[in-house]
Amino acid sequence: MSQDRAPMTEARVRRCTPDDAAALAAHVPGARHYAAGAFDRQRRGEVDFLVAFHAGLAAGSAELTFDDPPELKNLSVAPASRGQGLGSALIRYAEGLVENRDPEARPGQRSLTLGVGLENPGAARLYERIGYVRTGHVATTTYTYIDDDGVEHTVTEQDEDLIKRW
Ligand SMILES: CC(C)(COP(=O)(O)OP(=O)(O)OC[C@H]1O[C@@H](n2cnc3c(N)ncnc32)[C@H](O)[C@@H]1OP(=O)(O)O)[C@@H](O)C(=O)NCCC(=O)NCCS
Repeated sequence: MSQDRAPMTEARVRRCTPDDAAALAAHVPGARHYAAGAFDRQRRGEVDFLVAFHAGLAAGSAELTFDDPPELKNLSVAPASRGQGLGSALIRYAEGLVENRDPEARPGQRSLTLGVGLENPGAARLYERIGYVRTGHVATTTYTYIDDDGVEHTVTEQDEDLIKRW
């Protein structure tokens, strides 16, 4: 498994490999079922599924869509690894992929959006600090997920879209 190779001492990000998906599922609380689904979305060409490592362990992830503008979805870092730069590293890596997808873009033509829960001011502060601005557009989303015990949950969230242009 990739967890056992190439020890890493700082936040690193890469596109998810099959081993990385297994490592996320095994070690990140709540990711047992999510990781396989996101990896399938990447395999189908719907997203780039990004994984962040800290001290060699898979500890965070996010999905970059191919929408126009692209969106960073399901950004999450394991509770024990928060506050160590993994969330910021995932966003920076996604911005790099956006640049690679359109190397000819002129300044101001590239953009990336992400949604932040209205009840999540800590995450919103992080995004604003690294250049994302509030759009005032709030969407209500209902989705289901399967927890680590295999129980399905339905959740309704209100998220505000933030966007960065560069
Ligand atoms: C929001 C989140 C992805 C940030 O990841 P992270 O690896 O902790 O982020 P970084 O280390 O790069 O940056 C830390 C900043 O994140 C913010 N933050 C938000 N929630 C946090 C948490 N529970 N713990 C630590 N930092 C948090 C803080 O503002 C912090 O800023 P500071 O350095 O001024 O204190 C992560 O806290 C998380 O997974 N939270 C739960 C799920 C979630 O809210 N996802 C985002 C949906 S929009």
